[in-house]
Amino acid sequence: MNNVKNRQVFDFSLLRRVFSFAAPYKRYFYLSMFLTVLLALLSPVRPYLIQLTVDKYITSQWVQMLITITIVQILMLLLETLVRFLFSYITNWLGQSVIKDLRVAVYRKVVRLNLAYFDKTPIGTLTTRTINDIEAINDIFSEGIISIVADVLMILAILGVMFHEDWRLTLISLSPFPVLILATYWFKESVNKSFHRVRNAVAALNAFVQERITGMVVVQAFSAEDREFGKFRTINKDHRKANIDAIFAYSVFFPVVEIILAISLGLMVWWGANKVLNYEVTQGVMIAFIMYLNMLFRPLRILADKFNTLQMGMVASERVFKVLDSDEHIADKGMHTAVGMKGEIEFDHVWFAYKDERYVLKDVSFHAKSGQTVALVGHTGSGKTTIISILNRLYEIQKGRISIDGISLQDYKLAELRSRIGVVLQDVFLFSGSIYENITLRNPAISREQVEHAARLIGMHDFIQQLPGGYDYQVMERGSTLSLGQRQLISFIRALLYNPSILILDEATSSVDTESEMLIQHAIDKLIAGRTAIVIAHRLSTISKADQIIVLDKGEIREMGTHEELLRQEGYYHKLYMMQFVKSGSAV
Ligand SMILES: Nc1ncnc2c1ncn2[C@@H]1O[C@H](COP(=O)(O)OP(=O)(O)OP(=O)(O)O)[C@@H](O)[C@H]1O
Ligand SMILES: [Mg+2]
Repeated sequence: MNNVKNRQVFDFSLLRRVFSFAAPYKRYFYLSMFLTVLLALLSPVRPYLIQLTVDKYITSQWVQMLITITIVQILMLLLETLVRFLFSYITNWLGQSVIKDLRVAVYRKVVRLNLAYFDKTPIGTLTTRTINDIEAINDIFSEGIISIVADVLMILAILGVMFHEDWRLTLISLSPFPVLILATYWFKESVNKSFHRVRNAVAALNAFVQERITGMVVVQAFSAEDREFGKFRTINKDHRKANIDAIFAYSVFFPVVEIILAISLGLMVWWGANKVLNYEVTQGVMIAFIMYLNMLFRPLRILADKFNTLQMGMVASERVFKVLDSDEHIADKGMHTAVGMKGEIEFDHVWFAYKDERYVLKDVSFHAKSGQTVALVGHTGSGKTTIISILNRLYEIQKGRISIDGISLQDYKLAELRSRIGVVLQDVFLFSGSIYENITLRNPAISREQVEHAARLIGMHDFIQQLPGGYDYQVMERGSTLSLGQRQLISFIRALLYNPSILILDEATSSVDTESEMLIQHAIDKLIAGRTAIVIAHRLSTISKADQIIVLDKGEIREMGTHEELLRQEGYYHKLYMMQFVKSGSAV
């Protein structure tokens, strides 16, 4: 984040890319440009009219003309106000339209990124990309480039008129300008630095608070509140310091500009008054110059601010484009349809590593016939969850081949492949919303009757009915108001509804009472009936019923066979069995 400080403001290729998103709104863009020019041209008109009034009509007491010109002034004022309104409305409208599109594009991209990307990118970062950074891009339009062009054009127009009226008077009044430029530069730099610190502090605060609230159970259960609180205060202090530094720069800069303006006016009046006495400068010009100088200083004062805004917008857009440009998604080039898949699975010398060459699965081969149940057992970290993640193509394998019905996974259309494979994960994630929505995942093709039917099959209907609101019971974020077992049962219904050819089940490790155990066992039986199932099992009842048990150890297959065969071998599985089930008394 810190390397952004020294970037140049004008990275034109980046700017061009930002503006390419305005292409659908080209007409509004041109309109805002036209208004910019119009505003610049309009701005010197009113002072000029005043000059005319003073010099021509007041001195000659031409009353009729005085009335006319007053009316013209009022009309000009109205016109200018209207143009200014249109300008600000349209540039902001443009900015909002662009970020609306951009946000959709970024979100669409993020949703399609592969899981490996999420493994290495903090959630907070991606949230910032889709929300805050894009907001900053809006400023490129609303306060940034167009408005800078508008100010510069206006300054040029006013300077042009001033030089045209009286170049010596202009030079005299502009003589303090170098000081102003220096002051502006100092201001821009220091505010820029402070704002970067503010942004970093805000990001740190966000990340800190978000993570602590998510992990509140740990914080409170271990009485870590005070320690965490101390850390929070430190970050918060940094935030205040950075903000105060920025405020300091503002409070110094604005009065300094006022002083410079006063000196400019003073010099102008001093020099001009002498000339007026000698009839070299008219009173009208003097009055008009006072207005011109005021009009020059107003935009100059905020120009520095706008440059900062632009710069921040550019930094933000660079980050957003980086997300947009990442090609880390699972290739979807397969042509085979997965409709009517029978579910015969073949792992053929499969090697897989999440990162680099650290293989988590080593030379894994097995075969599951259509309709069979395969149980995966092994110690924690042995690679069970990994096997099912690669079957779903959440990750891409490095070596070997996985096929279903004889066709390589990559040759299937990705969405179809995944929709034929139902998953119940170890750690069930529920979204905030009703139970009903969590089951259907907002798929309108699934009817209420189907949901209730599936729930009855699983044996969850009565449980859901007695929740407040029944199927409309609102699940809180991450489903924290339901128990682990309940959450998994809900995801059973979800999987059953999609009627997949292959079912993947990562059993929750939670130990439950006998009654729930029976409920879950019944549900699992229903779930795997009539389809190929790969079950990561912790319950002996599930394991012993499997057609095939695969014993994994550190990513390698140790043993394979049925429950009886493996027990007879008295090998690794036997040991595991004795340790896990016989000792704990859960053997059947
Ligand atoms: N997203 C990931 N990125 C990097 N390494 C991972 C990732 N997920 C798992 N691993 C590593 O891969 C190995 C296998 O993990 P896996 O989740 O497959 O184990 P498991 O057999 O399901 O264990 P458990 O019974 O505890 O669920 C572990 O050493 C783990 O540290
Ligand atoms: Mg696991």
